[in-house]
Amino acid sequence: MAITPAFDQASRAQMPALKVAILGFGTVGSAVARILCDQPAHSPLRLTHVYNRNVERKRVDWVTGDVCWSSNIDEVLASDADIIVELIGGMDPAHEWISRALTSGKSVVTANKKLIAKHGPELSALACKHGAALSFGASVAGGVPVIDALQEGLAGDQLYKVSGILNGTCNYILTKIESEGISFEEALVEAQRAGFAEADPTDDVDGFDARSKLVILSRIGLKAIVQPEQIHCDSIRRIGAIDFTYSHELGCTIRQISRAERREGQIYAAVQPALVPIDSPMAHITGSLNIVLSSGKYGGQTAFSGHGAGGHSTAVAVVSDLLDIARGRSGDNVRPQIAADVLPVTGNFTSAHYLRFTVHDRPGIVAAIANTLAAHSINIDALLQKPGYNKDALPFVVTLEQCPTEQLEAAMRDLRKLDFLVHAPLTMPILTKEL
Ligand SMILES: NC(=O)c1ccc[n+]([C@@H]2O[C@H](COP(=O)([O-])OP(=O)(O)OC[C@H]3O[C@@H](n4cnc5c(N)ncnc54)[C@H](OP(=O)(O)O)[C@@H]3O)[C@@H](O)[C@H]2O)c1
Repeated sequence: MAITPAFDQASRAQMPALKVAILGFGTVGSAVARILCDQPAHSPLRLTHVYNRNVERKRVDWVTGDVCWSSNIDEVLASDADIIVELIGGMDPAHEWISRALTSGKSVVTANKKLIAKHGPELSALACKHGAALSFGASVAGGVPVIDALQEGLAGDQLYKVSGILNGTCNYILTKIESEGISFEEALVEAQRAGFAEADPTDDVDGFDARSKLVILSRIGLKAIVQPEQIHCDSIRRIGAIDFTYSHELGCTIRQISRAERREGQIYAAVQPALVPIDSPMAHITGSLNIVLSSGKYGGQTAFSGHGAGGHSTAVAVVSDLLDIARGRSGDNVRPQIAADVLPVTGNFTSAHYLRFTVHDRPGIVAAIANTLAAHSINIDALLQKPGYNKDALPFVVTLEQCPTEQLEAAMRDLRKLDFLVHAPLTMPILTKEL
């Protein structure tokens, strides 16, 4: 399908609607179908195919009778559909099916962050080669139109930093621990009950989902091609109510922060739980909300926030991409392909740090910790200890003055050898308002 170079109301009205095939009739796929079936008669989009394995069990009465329900992917990819909407998720077979669709000149819209993080540049090049569009506005922050905002709205700036709270599951869990004083495990069960966490929460709580989104934001915002596995991830599994108690004393709260910065020909990037000041924009993001902050050389900081997941908000982003294609503008193909550099990646940010120790109490512990840190030229800023804990598993917190992460890691290798530890110390960066 050739994409119309510019949207023209008069000619658009005479053009037949673009035919849309949805692959995957799950949470997002069915919500997209709902919106498409609810379009006005003169809509430039028409749902023509729904594909799913064992599709018969997916049939619903609100989809009009002329839509073809199929479990045969070859039939759908060879059909006269103009746009394929990939909503099955995962790497394979989504990668193969998107490649086949683009190669045959069909445009593709996807919400698949994992796939776009890994194969986005290659698939965008394929789209360009075949005169098709590839749009993935729903892949980061669900219904928050941040991809379009970075690519279009802030195109006039030179962005050097993107950061945010990109995973609603982690944010829900952390804010539950904070507000109810419960454990990580209890908060996870609540998140699963409320439908905010999968039965296997690994991708979310260990940071891999946010990492995929950070890769996409780095490419779109910072014009840097980064591979997901190059980005350091720390899990939120070890965060407990006690960490919120201590971080509140420090004027902070804890959020899973994803950040990437283009500096001196490198990308600094990490996904990790971090202390953020209580009066920062990140601290105000509670429950399953998302926020993305971008920093530009000329325009300063811009914030985008809203519902980062959920069938309907994600479907809105998918349908917006479809309408964008129908208007003749689209993801990567109509605008010239965005030049992005392959840059080395480091997680060696410099910041203050929070260290939580749990020890078998005995004299000399603080001196041993201070000496180990001093041997690595790291200064202690403060020591916080709440009364009333069992001496066999006594928690206390040490905060450190600013140092590079690599310097801290070297010190941690020695600290972990100390024989009074109940378990390895927990470390988190303490970020400033600007991150
Ligand atoms: N849900 C959200 O809030 C959200 C937000 C942002 C982005 N996304 C992204 O949107 C995509 C879809 O997510 P979702 O939540 O809608 O997932 P979902 O509810 O699990 O739906 C996926 C659908 O695709 C079908 N499917 C999966 N693999 C298939 C295969 N190999 N062959 C045929 N059909 C297959 C599934 O069929 P079965 O019923 O047989 O399993 C299911 O109907 C993912 O890439 C996800 O990361 C989701």
